[in-house]
Amino acid sequence: MDKTFLKLPSTFFLLFVILSSTTTATTAKPHRFSKQLPPATLGLKREKLSHLHFYFHDILSGRNPTAVKVASAPLTNRSATVFGQVMMMDDPLTVGPELTSKLVGRAQGIYASASQTEVGFLMVLNFAFMEGKYNGSNLSVLGRNAAFSAMREMPIVGGSGVFRFARGYAQARTHMLDFKTGDAVVEYNVYVFHY
Ligand SMILES: *[C@@H]1O[C@H](CO)[C@@H](O)[C@H](O)[C@H]1NC(C)=O
Ligand SMILES: *[C@@H]1O[C@H](CO)[C@@H](O)[C@H](O)[C@H]1NC(C)=O
Ligand SMILES: *[C@@H]1O[C@H](CO)[C@@H](O)[C@H](O)[C@H]1NC(C)=O
Repeated sequence: MDKTFLKLPSTFFLLFVILSSTTTATTAKPHRFSKQLPPATLGLKREKLSHLHFYFHDILSGRNPTAVKVASAPLTNRSATVFGQVMMMDDPLTVGPELTSKLVGRAQGIYASASQTEVGFLMVLNFAFMEGKYNGSNLSVLGRNAAFSAMREMPIVGGSGVFRFARGYAQARTHMLDFKTGDAVVEYNVYVFHY
């Protein structure tokens, strides 16, 4: 009795080893790191080109600023180009130039003074959209913004939601600048390829 009780599990164990080694050899797939997919697998059909037009409100003054200074260097306030200053923004994007016009999204991210020869910002930000079919989708911008140039262009490096696989560019033109407060309204034209 004692002997069979001891033998039984070892028999099962042997059977298990044999079975699992055969299944491994015949059916189990090795772990695979990459493979090619037909684009239709992700529901990708035809690439589209979209043009988005909105106004960006960068408000530094008052009790509810939308952009705040988060860092600067000891020499920043001696620099004519505010070199070294880092601003964090959560700027409203509206369909028209008035702040009271319809909100279509927000620009969330950083602009940092990265030039010692002119006012030139490193822009690292996401446009988070709230309008229509774009609600909940985002575009990511990484570029250079020479803020006193009439027209600036910044690459769109990617996106999410309806903007998956996005690439394109954003053109910015200052619509209004209050030299006293630094408050600005910037017109944006964004051209983006996506699916
Ligand atoms: C420059 O900024 C430093 C802090 O970074 C501050 O202590 C200093 O008072 C500022 N100087 C002027 C002239 O504003
Ligand atoms: C955007 O979507 C959120 C939920 O995903 C919803 O609460 C909100 O009302 C939508 N906004 C617009 C303008 O459609
Ligand atoms: C877009 O960004 C918002 C935050 O603003 C986030 O909640 C949302 O999940 C993002 N959308 C997608 C599709 O990742």
